[in-house]
Amino acid sequence: MMRAARSGGKGRERVSQPVEVRWGRNTRRAGGSVLLAGLVLGVGLLVAGCTAEQPDIFRPGGSAGEEIRQLALQIFLILSVVLIAVWALLAFVIIRYRRRPEAEASQTRGNLKIEIVWTLIPAVIIVVLFILTVRTTQNLALPDPGAQFTVVGHQWWWEFDFADQGFKTANEVHVAARRQVSADVVSTDVIHSFWVPQMGGKVDMIPGRVNRVSFVPLEEGRYLGECSEFCGAQHGKMRFLFVVDSPEEFSAWVRAQQQPAAAPEGAEARAGASVIATVGCSGCHAVRGTSLKGTFGPDLTHFGSRGGIGAWALTNTPDNLLTWLQDPQAVKPECLMPRVALPLAQQKQLVAYLEELQ
Ligand code: CUA
Repeated sequence: MMRAARSGGKGRERVSQPVEVRWGRNTRRAGGSVLLAGLVLGVGLLVAGCTAEQPDIFRPGGSAGEEIRQLALQIFLILSVVLIAVWALLAFVIIRYRRRPEAEASQTRGNLKIEIVWTLIPAVIIVVLFILTVRTTQNLALPDPGAQFTVVGHQWWWEFDFADQGFKTANEVHVAARRQVSADVVSTDVIHSFWVPQMGGKVDMIPGRVNRVSFVPLEEGRYLGECSEFCGAQHGKMRFLFVVDSPEEFSAWVRAQQQPAAAPEGAEARAGASVIATVGCSGCHAVRGTSLKGTFGPDLTHFGSRGGIGAWALTNTPDNLLTWLQDPQAVKPECLMPRVALPLAQQKQLVAYLEELQ
C-alpha cells in the first residue's frame, strides 16, 4: 500500500524533510532463503537507509524477476558450499598440521594428483555457474509480439507513450497481470536504465537506439521503478510507479487515460484553467483537450490521478504541488522546471486545476 507523505510546515522547510514514499510490497509467499534475505536487508539498511517497504528482489512480482531470483539462490547455495568447504579444510589443516618442534613441513610440489584435483574442482564449479547463467538468460528471452508502448527517459523523468491508444503519461504506468509486457525503451538525452527491481533485469536506455524490455508481471501490486544508470544530478529522483492491474482494471485505466482532460468544476480550478493557458506552461506541457500542447515536459492530462510530483521527488498532495510550483529547484536542483512566478492566489488556482485533472 502506498501512503501519501505527511506534509508538515510551510514553504521550503518542508522540502528538506525526507519524502515518505512507501513502496508497495506484494503479498506473495516469503520464499527463498531467510538467511539470504536477512543479509540483503542488512546490507540494504546499511547502504541506503532503506525501510522494509523498499522493493525486494527476493520477492519478485514478474517472470524475469523470478528467474533472476532462482539463479541468485542457486549461485548463493553453490558458493556457500564452497566457502564452508574451504573454511572446514582450513580449520582442519591448521589444527591437524600445526607446527610441532620435531616436524618438518611436508613438500607437495610436483604432486600431479593434487595439481589436477585443485584445477578440476574450480573448473567444474565455473562450468556449472556458466550453464545455470546461460539457461536463465535463455529463459528471459520471450517471444517478441511487438512493443505495446515506449518508455522515454528524460533528465529526470519517465514518459510512457501509448501511441496505439493515443495517450502519453508520465512517471506512472499500468500493465495487466499475467500478460506479457513488451516495451521499447529509448532516451532523449543521456543514458538511463529502466529497472523495476521486482519485475526483472535492467535495460539501458541509450540515445539514438531502441532497446526492448519483456517480461510477464505475475503478481498484482504497486512496484517501484527507478533509473539504474547514473544520469546526472537528479538520478536519485528519477523514479516511477509500476502498477500491475487485473486485466479489467488495466482496460479501465487505458480508457480513463484516453479521455481528454475533464473540464474544471470548482471555482478555483476554473480560474486555474485560465491561468495555465496564459502563463507559458504550454511551452513544455500538454493537457489534451486544451490549448496546452507542449511535448518537452510531462503530459499533464491526468496529473491529478498520479501519486507523485517530479518523478516522485514529492508525493502528490496540494501542499507539495504548491511547493513544487513555487520553487522546483529547491526540491530537485537542476531539473528543467522553472519556478512559476505568480501571486500566491494564482499559484493556488493552478494547484486546484491540476489536482482536478483526474
Ligand atoms: Cu536517469 Cu539515472
